[in-house]
Amino acid sequence: MAPGGIARAFASALRASTRQQIVAVGSRSQQRAAEFAAEFGAGSAYGSYEQLVADPQVQAIYVASPHSEHFEQAMLAIRAGKHVLVEKAFTRNAAEARKLVDAARVQGVALMEAMWTRFLPRTDIVRQLLADGALGELETLIGDHGQSLEHVERMMRPELAGGALLDLGIYPVSYSFFALGAPKTVRVIGELTPSGVDRQLSITFGDYVDHPHAQALVSTTLAAKTPTTMAICGSLARVELDGDFYTPGRVRVVAKAGEVLLSPPDVMVGHQGLAYEAAHFAQLVSDGFTESPQLPLAESVAIMSVLDKVRHQLGVRYPGE
Ligand SMILES: NC(=O)c1ccc[n+]([C@@H]2O[C@H](COP(=O)([O-])OP(=O)(O)OC[C@H]3O[C@@H](n4cnc5c(N)ncnc54)[C@H](OP(=O)(O)O)[C@@H]3O)[C@@H](O)[C@H]2O)c1
Repeated sequence: MAPGGIARAFASALRASTRQQIVAVGSRSQQRAAEFAAEFGAGSAYGSYEQLVADPQVQAIYVASPHSEHFEQAMLAIRAGKHVLVEKAFTRNAAEARKLVDAARVQGVALMEAMWTRFLPRTDIVRQLLADGALGELETLIGDHGQSLEHVERMMRPELAGGALLDLGIYPVSYSFFALGAPKTVRVIGELTPSGVDRQLSITFGDYVDHPHAQALVSTTLAAKTPTTMAICGSLARVELDGDFYTPGRVRVVAKAGEVLLSPPDVMVGHQGLAYEAAHFAQLVSDGFTESPQLPLAESVAIMSVLDKVRHQLGVRYPGE
């Protein structure tokens, strides 16, 4: 549903590295749907999202529209009884996220935020290191995500819920949840574009229930390419992910005494790694689960709540919120 830039990358990855089939595509334009269907071998091409969700051949729907549209479109799919994978950011805000989760539970369908970093092999390595306590007491997380995207109209428009935070900043924010959980303290400085979306911001998180000393520093910008790295630093060792940390790659563990351990490279490169999230979601559906243990719905809602707090401090509101 909504065949734009990321839908193309997702469809390529799906076809190259999974056994999933793209049985149909739905666009606001019949022509765009037909072009996408021809490019990726989809059996049916629909010129409306309503027609797509009515297709009985369709088991699960991937929602790949701008953030402003996620709620309505995912709701359309859920009400039609389809399993739904929704691009990040899950919705515009926590209120929309909660309504989606409630609707999916009522319908008994699977729902998941497409935060693909969660399903990469190197994230699994970090998950095991954290579960084993290999880093010791967690102290500091430092992550950034900046790209030069001021020319992308979708990013600059408040009515599409543009801005750096929901598109880019969400990656290090979500990673900080993965490592540390939800912070009770959120402090932000930032700057808006003349159109009123967040251009650059730096966030400090603290007061974690399970990590009393930990602080996370997260920065994001849509005005410059930044290293886009991640470090999780503990009393015994630290984990470092080179840029772009949210894509497939290696994990480096640096012990207190300076010894370095490096994981092997991933077999996937860049957005080919979307196949991992697609395969994970397909496995959930075929096993009869309605949410992912690796990215539970309560966590996607909690992430949206923190993004709401950040936007509130910056004074960013989307029209109609
Ligand atoms: N996982 C990743 O690495 C990654 C990377 C980039 C973006 N994303 C996420 O993917 C989503 C889409 O981003 P994108 O870069 O693919 O956007 P995009 O290229 O602009 O495509 C979005 C598509 O949504 C449809 N759409 C529906 N309502 C729309 C509206 N009111 N205005 C504009 N388009 C509308 C359009 O398709 P039709 O009109 O043909 O239906 C459009 O082609 C966002 O949530 C973004 O954060 C994820």
